[in-house]
Amino acid sequence: MYKIIRPFLFLFKPEYIHDKLIWALSLFYRYLKPLRWIVRAVHCKKREPVNIKNLLFKNRVGLAAGFDKGAECFDELADFGFAFIELGTVTPFYLIGNDKPRIFRLPKCESILHRTGFNNPGMDIFIKNLKRKRDNYILGANINKEPAFKGQFAIDDFNELYTNLCDKVEFFTINSATLEPDLLSRVLISLDDLRKKNNKSNLFFLKVPADITEENLKVIMRTAYDNNIDGFIATGPSSDHSLISGYNEEELQKLGAGAVSGKVIFNKSLAVVKKIRELDPSRFFIVIAGGGIMDINDAKIMIEAGADLIQIYSAMIYSGPCIASKIANKL
Ligand SMILES: Cc1cc2nc3c(=O)[nH]c(=O)nc-3n(C[C@H](O)[C@H](O)[C@H](O)COP(=O)(O)O)c2cc1C
Repeated sequence: MYKIIRPFLFLFKPEYIHDKLIWALSLFYRYLKPLRWIVRAVHCKKREPVNIKNLLFKNRVGLAAGFDKGAECFDELADFGFAFIELGTVTPFYLIGNDKPRIFRLPKCESILHRTGFNNPGMDIFIKNLKRKRDNYILGANINKEPAFKGQFAIDDFNELYTNLCDKVEFFTINSATLEPDLLSRVLISLDDLRKKNNKSNLFFLKVPADITEENLKVIMRTAYDNNIDGFIATGPSSDHSLISGYNEEELQKLGAGAVSGKVIFNKSLAVVKKIRELDPSRFFIVIAGGGIMDINDAKIMIEAGADLIQIYSAMIYSGPCIASKIANKL
């Protein structure tokens, strides 16, 4: 069905369609309850749940950060079978992000080039939107600081987000690619202290970039171990434009800077997942594999490489939301 309407959707700019989709999902939520029940009945079949550190995931498939930055449509998305949804990136205050256009589809290689920045409505609206959460899926918040903040100001931003969200989401993600190593350690120490002081059980994940070197991965894993991080999201996008295929130099130059997501980064992400497991054979850390997982075959490869869970973003754009339950059914 999605493959039929996709050429029509792709006639419009990616961000325009994204916003319209969120609007359509909210209509679906308010006025089309019977249709919702049908979608749920088809996509949320009972599957073998996975218990990870006392959190029960109803299957192994989640949605990656960036799709629902403002917690506007997670409840509707969960109807399509996602066991967990990572919201955000959210910051304490509203951010407009980079100039548009800032998202570009690359259909010839089923990938996406993007430079959205941290556009999001800010913590207060995010929290208001979270009131709609039901309890049959897991929510995470990808949190970050005001981009210009450094040192203690940056740490305070993370602390504020954690304090206000810890009763509303089950896990937090901190994107290691966006913080200097020294600041990252200080943020993690501070968050771990807060978690202990408040006696909370939220899980913490560190998201690592697809381009991470083995040396940097070892450093990050050491930092994670020292600060009681529960696991990794492996990986976020790549900045390597040479991975993009089917487009000439001129076309790529026209699109400009940005991070690369989708099919072309799969091998890089897989290598990182394998490396984490090689360095952590006892499976001390949870691994959520992401990056270029486009179908069931990719998901199986990631699980075989040692991932506990998987998350998708680009696959939603190229195959539609039903891809979540299709993958979950076969994993
Ligand atoms: C348009 C777009 C916006 C994104 N925004 C965020 C974000 O705000 N925070 C974040 O950590 N990752 C963000 N991501 C990265 C995704 O969460 C994911 O890590 C990446 O796309 C790789 O997965 P994929 O190949 O399945 O798309 C974004 C990705 C895209 C395509």
